[in-house]
Amino acid sequence: MSEPVARLMVEEISRREIETELIDVVALGLPIDDAGEAIKPPAFAASMTRADALVIVSPEYNHSFPGLLKHALDTCLTEYVHKAVGIVGVSSGPWGGTRGIQDLLPVMRELGLVTIFWDVYFANVRRAFDTSEALTDDAQLRRIDKFLAELIWMARTLRHGRETMAL
Ligand SMILES: Cc1cc2nc3c(=O)[nH]c(=O)nc-3n(C[C@H](O)[C@H](O)[C@H](O)COP(=O)(O)O)c2cc1C
Repeated sequence: MSEPVARLMVEEISRREIETELIDVVALGLPIDDAGEAIKPPAFAASMTRADALVIVSPEYNHSFPGLLKHALDTCLTEYVHKAVGIVGVSSGPWGGTRGIQDLLPVMRELGLVTIFWDVYFANVRRAFDTSEALTDDAQLRRIDKFLAELIWMARTLRHGRETMAL
């Protein structure tokens, strides 16, 4: 159920004439006999290098984020530095993935990503879309709009900083 949420985010980002790409961490097919930059997938690293911002769609797994998400994020490091990130929580329960988001925040910091102060929450995700994958609650679009406005501002600001200011 994270997939319709991710597709919706891609649609909303594209609608704002921003180039984006949906990356499914499952499709990366990461090995599990090692971790970190030793298993960096070249195409994923290239996407992270090009990106000005990330939107992480994270389901809540046992009151945190999924281990596979961390395994994927851990494969890059310098590619993320001084780039913006916003997190969209997904849960089958009523809390919208907030516990997973809280746990992701220190990880974002260690990766050099800059978090925004808005999240989007998809609580009770099985009721969030109808059979044609349309949102059942239009208020989500207003929340996504605020979230993306903030993310785009942060991404532009950080890009300006990366391009014009030496550390
Ligand atoms: C291992 C596992 C643990 C889960 N733990 C929680 C949880 O703690 N709270 C919750 O609301 N939903 C929990 N769920 C339900 C997921 O949040 C729900 O399946 C997810 O948001 C849907 O996305 P997915 O289909 O991409 O997994 C869990 C699901 C799995 C597979």
